[in-house]
Amino acid sequence: MPNEIPESQAICNEVSRSAIFIVATISSGLDPAAKVREWCGDIAALVRSVGTRAPSGGLSCVCGFGSDAWDTLFGAPRPALLHPFRDIGEGNRRALGTPGDILLHIRADHMDLCFELASQLLGPLCDAVTVVDEVHGFRYFDMRDMVGFVDGTENPRGSSADQFTLITDDPGFEGGSYVLVQKYLHDMDGWNALSVEAQERIIGRKKLSNVELDAAVKPSCSHSSLTTITENGEEVKIVRDNMPFGRLGAGEFGTYFIGYARSPSPIEQMLQNMFIGRPPGNYDRLLDYSRAVTGGLFFVPSADLLESLANREAPTVTTAIEQQPDKSSPVEPRHDGSLIIGSLKGMSQHE
Ligand code: HEM
Repeated sequence: MPNEIPESQAICNEVSRSAIFIVATISSGLDPAAKVREWCGDIAALVRSVGTRAPSGGLSCVCGFGSDAWDTLFGAPRPALLHPFRDIGEGNRRALGTPGDILLHIRADHMDLCFELASQLLGPLCDAVTVVDEVHGFRYFDMRDMVGFVDGTENPRGSSADQFTLITDDPGFEGGSYVLVQKYLHDMDGWNALSVEAQERIIGRKKLSNVELDAAVKPSCSHSSLTTITENGEEVKIVRDNMPFGRLGAGEFGTYFIGYARSPSPIEQMLQNMFIGRPPGNYDRLLDYSRAVTGGLFFVPSADLLESLANREAPTVTTAIEQQPDKSSPVEPRHDGSLIIGSLKGMSQHE
């Protein structure tokens, strides 16, 4: 990356064995907001404190803020493309936004490290926040996800991952990123009742070998087809780090989806293709066996900005209100699920 781009948080990491995903809401009032602002300056030091005790543990943490939380905590200036999660789809096939002001994505090779850092991070916040969702994810052997397929193969890597995830064109927010999370629960009985060939047509890859299905047989509604998008003839990628999670006694089998990108648009376009279909109706059959039960969009400041946010003045009430996105703005989703996002113009609807 060129020198002038500030250092990013640990977004494009090596694959880890464990992760904790925490979504929290901030309590109302001035004191909780002040406490969270101050905490922004301590996050990196806490990661160092815990990580140094296990040098080969690969401990990292990414912290992001939701749209309303940004306005309440920091006011103007705000990241240009940050907005509340836009619901897509309807009925059983719906990507829905759920409450969340702060996201913590903690990764390490051992769950004890993740757990220790999570408790050190949440401790000082006390009742300034409420954890509304906490998922402890594990890496299944062979890099397989809960539905038995190898996950992460087509992730961009190295400098390409940086190019697809780090903001370079929003002054003051360079080195930042956007992250979208969703917690999915799977109907494993239904999924396992399918033949392996039927599952492969849904995902678009061979289950055992992980080889992509030949274009001649890969359905246009396969998961990999619908999440392959192009803009001006170029493929637009995101960086994913999904994790399986579950509780056997409760019959819970899940995938925590997490995707990073330099703009929310490509991730939203993928959701549109999956939930509505490309063209509409040609939707992702993985969703017949997977239900999204949470959803959140967050801005991830660069490491430098995160630390300096601790010194931000509390926004005045007027600034915070002025910064609230206009709920009647034409970029809000229509009831047919269309996003009508200007920046998506030119993005091919068909690969
Ligand atoms: C139920 C949750 C999900 C599961 C189990 C799942 C699983 C998979 C698997 C097995 C692959 C093929 C291997 C790979 O390249 O990683 C894949 C690819 C991919 N998925 Fe998902 N995924 C899920 C949700 C999502 C969501 C919500 C998005 C985006 C909004 C997404 C975006 C992608 C992308 C971009 C690819 C690569 C496509 C390609 O270039 O071939 N996935 N996913």
